[in-house]
Amino acid sequence: MNTRWAGQAVICFEETDSTNLRAKEEADKGAPEGALVVADMQTAGRGRRGRSWNSPKGVNLYFTLILKPQYETDKASMVTLVMAMAVAEGIRETCGVKCGIKWPNDIVINGKKVCGILTEMNLAGTAIRHVLIGVGINVATQDFPWELASTAVSLQEVCGEEISKSILLENIMKAFEKYYKKFCESMDLSLFKEEYNQLMVNRDREVRVLEPGGEYSGIARGMNEMGELLVELPEGRIEKVYAGEVSVRGIYGYV
Ligand code: BTN
Repeated sequence: MNTRWAGQAVICFEETDSTNLRAKEEADKGAPEGALVVADMQTAGRGRRGRSWNSPKGVNLYFTLILKPQYETDKASMVTLVMAMAVAEGIRETCGVKCGIKWPNDIVINGKKVCGILTEMNLAGTAIRHVLIGVGINVATQDFPWELASTAVSLQEVCGEEISKSILLENIMKAFEKYYKKFCESMDLSLFKEEYNQLMVNRDREVRVLEPGGEYSGIARGMNEMGELLVELPEGRIEKVYAGEVSVRGIYGYV
């Protein structure tokens, strides 16, 4: 891979339960920063908020990038948004398709989800031991299970041509290095917040925020430099939404 550090070590599985679980194991065994765990199929692919991730064999990309950062735990949630930018750029470079981001980290084409990101963190006391950024991209799935059929799409469906998974992965790793460098310079998302907001598909749309403690609606007004979604409430007040366990839905559908 023509990168400086991301994806220089690659650990491949034909089949595994979840690349996030394998990455935790590899990181514990001493895999370096930037090591990548890739699988051709997952039997227990994990999604956000306790859901599963559809991971059929041979058609898609499932990978987890290992980071071993020095910063505080409160910074780690932002790397998910760094990866979202990298995936959007990697897809653009590889397939020429402009995708959007549904805050915080769903990559969307024509209103349907093409990629999901699940970041997990392991601690040693109060310090970060490692951060694992798991990415699933629907590259060539043709038949989605019925419950995903109306909200999921594959890159091949959009582009109409075969996509090289290895080139796509390399382009994402190159873009990740670029955006992660900016993140490490400022220790927040300020250096590409505007760029992110340009890609945000739910910006200036009415959204419903589902938090563990309750629900409310407002207009999404973009993301701030900490990665929080700014939601304008009916009375004009701006509520900052932290990604965590929150789900943000469009009131007329997925976006
Ligand atoms: C989401 O719910 O949108 C996040 C989905 C993340 C799926 C990827 S596939 C590779 C990695 N391994 C997993 O078990 N999950 C992530």
